[in-house]
Amino acid sequence: MKTIRVETQRPYSVKIGRGLLCAAGDHIAKVHPSCTATLVADQTVAGLYGQRVRHTLEAAGFRVVDYTLPPGEGSKTMENLEHLLSFLAGHRLGRGDLIVALGGGVTGDLAGFGAAVYQRGMSYVQLPTTLLAAVDSSVGGKTAVNLPEGKNLVGAFWQPKLVLCDCDSFVSLPAAELSAGAAECLKYGMLGDPVLFDRLAREGLNTDWADIVAACVAAKADIVRTDEREAGPRRLLNLGHTFGHAIEQLSGFSLRHGEGVALGLLMITRAAERKGLCEPGLSGRVIEALRALNLPTRCPYDTVSLTKAALGDKKRQGDQIALVLPRALGDCFIHSIAVSELSEWIKLGLEDLP
Ligand SMILES: NC(=O)c1ccc[n+]([C@@H]2O[C@H](COP(=O)([O-])OP(=O)(O)OC[C@H]3O[C@@H](n4cnc5c(N)ncnc54)[C@H](O)[C@@H]3O)[C@@H](O)[C@H]2O)c1
Ligand SMILES: [Zn+2]
Repeated sequence: MKTIRVETQRPYSVKIGRGLLCAAGDHIAKVHPSCTATLVADQTVAGLYGQRVRHTLEAAGFRVVDYTLPPGEGSKTMENLEHLLSFLAGHRLGRGDLIVALGGGVTGDLAGFGAAVYQRGMSYVQLPTTLLAAVDSSVGGKTAVNLPEGKNLVGAFWQPKLVLCDCDSFVSLPAAELSAGAAECLKYGMLGDPVLFDRLAREGLNTDWADIVAACVAAKADIVRTDEREAGPRRLLNLGHTFGHAIEQLSGFSLRHGEGVALGLLMITRAAERKGLCEPGLSGRVIEALRALNLPTRCPYDTVSLTKAALGDKKRQGDQIALVLPRALGDCFIHSIAVSELSEWIKLGLEDLP
């Protein structure tokens, strides 16, 4: 098992290993006294791992109540948040009780936001069961629900007490979900870890995920430590996301977030190369890595529609938009452009994609 400390205002550990779900109760008991634990999971994950986690929590002295939601992004709503909060109130839970979020980013974001606002804040722990949740959403304390107007528009920064990542749970993940999470891993490689990038490109999806998750979490923890509330360096984590979000949105969310990010990483690298801001040849390496991870390299949308979609990005500030660009493998920087230049950047990113 590997342990990584996340040094935020309220520091916590991320433990990564195999078989951790069966021992979750003991790990959680070390960071929280016994109480009522609300086990939040979607129906799929509850069916696969709910009993296992319930038993270990009970064995460690917790009383467990189950809260189950339908799987999928559609569950991250204000309505479901209210439903969860009413459930907590109906069970007379107090600030000293605990939420255990078991599942992917949808469950973690909704349960984490519930924990942030119920009685002005209660403790929660994250048990990520998707690769994406393990390397991204479970670490760093961003919690949110969606509005009809856009994704993640309501939320809070609220750090968990503990994150326990059992890489054995990835065995049941659909292959496309594993690939989608791998796009975020590739992003960390591009941001600062060429060894991680090369390993993903070489080993593809047949790799030791505990090693990969640990490298990604260490990278994220490092950035979050210096910038918990995304005022500066944390924005680097948006590498590939400006174009990625636009692609995801144009697909009506039929493309996964990670698939959009994969194309976003490739497009921004090509555009930066063509602008002479990035070392030549990097986009070729990105293509090879995406192929090894079964991720798309072709963007089905054109410059006009992508530009329109990207202009709605939350990261836009007035007539400027901050792009994260690779300079070389493992070295990225923030580069502000005028909104009027965006379509040229997108055009350069799209041209001659293989
Ligand atoms: N808070 C953050 O910092 C942050 C960062 C990135 C993404 N996100 C959010 O995360 C969400 C996406 O997360 P996600 O990709 O994990 O989606 P998800 O939670 O919907 O999980 C994807 C699918 O996999 C299933 N699943 C989960 N674990 C499984 C397992 N072990 N075996 C089999 N099936 C399993 C789920 O039931 C679901 O159908 C988005 O809402 C996004 O906004 C948040
Ligand atoms: Zn992402």
